[in-house]
Amino acid sequence: MPYKITLIPGDGIGPEVSAAAREAVDATGVPIQWETAELNADIIASTGQSLPQHVLDSLERTHVGLKGPVTTPIAGGYTSVNVALRKRLDLYANVRPVRSLPRLVTRFSDVKIDMVIFRENTEDLYSGLEHEVVRDVVTSLKVITRTASIRIAEAAFGFARQTGRRKVAAIHKANIMKLADGLFLRCCREVAARFPEIEYREVIVDNAAMQLVIRPEQFDVLLLPNLYGDIVSDLAAGLVGGLGVVPGANLGERDAVFEAVHGSAPDIAGRGIANPTAMMLSAALMLDHLHEQEAATRLRSAVETVYSDRKHLTPDVGGHGGTREFTDAVIAALKT
Ligand code: NAI
Repeated sequence: MPYKITLIPGDGIGPEVSAAAREAVDATGVPIQWETAELNADIIASTGQSLPQHVLDSLERTHVGLKGPVTTPIAGGYTSVNVALRKRLDLYANVRPVRSLPRLVTRFSDVKIDMVIFRENTEDLYSGLEHEVVRDVVTSLKVITRTASIRIAEAAFGFARQTGRRKVAAIHKANIMKLADGLFLRCCREVAARFPEIEYREVIVDNAAMQLVIRPEQFDVLLLPNLYGDIVSDLAAGLVGGLGVVPGANLGERDAVFEAVHGSAPDIAGRGIANPTAMMLSAALMLDHLHEQEAATRLRSAVETVYSDRKHLTPDVGGHGGTREFTDAVIAALKT
């Protein structure tokens, strides 16, 4: 029986990179029946729903999605489809492995970076609770709950134990947000106590940002509330070659949606030069989730082979190739 997977191409570079990832997954030989669910800025604008029913219906059937980025209007317009999807399906854990790729020249090429970010995905300042108190005075509510903090901490420590990682760092600003980040930290400490073999420490977010740039190799698993997780993920992506190379998984109890860290990149959309690495590595995480570890490992190795060869890379990582050329090279590497 083939796996049923919802493929959400998205918009901007989404259709280009998700088609590339789909081809790469198909080339692994894992039988998949793709169910395409269109979701983009035009559909959202015309239906007036940030989360159209056909997307939910498909995910309801498949429980697993591979999703391209979707544009969100800035300072106005509809609410983020990504935030809506994560909340609606209760995809509470956003997991982002950030690893150096072989022979990729970055400012940090001489350091081996291998960290995994666990970002809480459902609350914090993304609760969307904003209010204009009086003209020109706005409040935005930061919501932190014990339930969400405990489960993201359990996800991070559980992953560390399962994969043999040794350290978890909780990132916070509890010196200023004593109640909100204070609760988050208390929950992290409570869970840490149940994992005595894992070294636990706490780092204030501004210091964490500096430490990540100065000595990124010190980090193993990072555990963060939503907003810091969002910002730190992009920072960490910059350490290993940029947004084009970092994958992600949104995990809930029942459903899972895999997507790159990057957005719809309107500046390069339709030009055939988007880097599909992040989507392909997100697809590899999806294969892990389906317990197709052997295929996942082969896909990751094929991507690494293409980086080692350096001949077919896209411009964002210093190459001269396009999305098609990179994809063909990965598929060729999968076949050898
Ligand atoms: P972005 O990630 O789309 O682009 C930032 C920069 O990175 C751009 O210069 C872009 O060309 C480059 N870049 C990103 N992905 C790349 C790739 N695969 N290959 C080569 N270069 C790549 O971030 P931006 O510009 O802040 O957001 C654009 C739109 O995407 C916004 O509407 C935003 O809301 C949305 N977005 C959607 C996400 C999602 O659907 N999960 C996540 C983040 C942003």
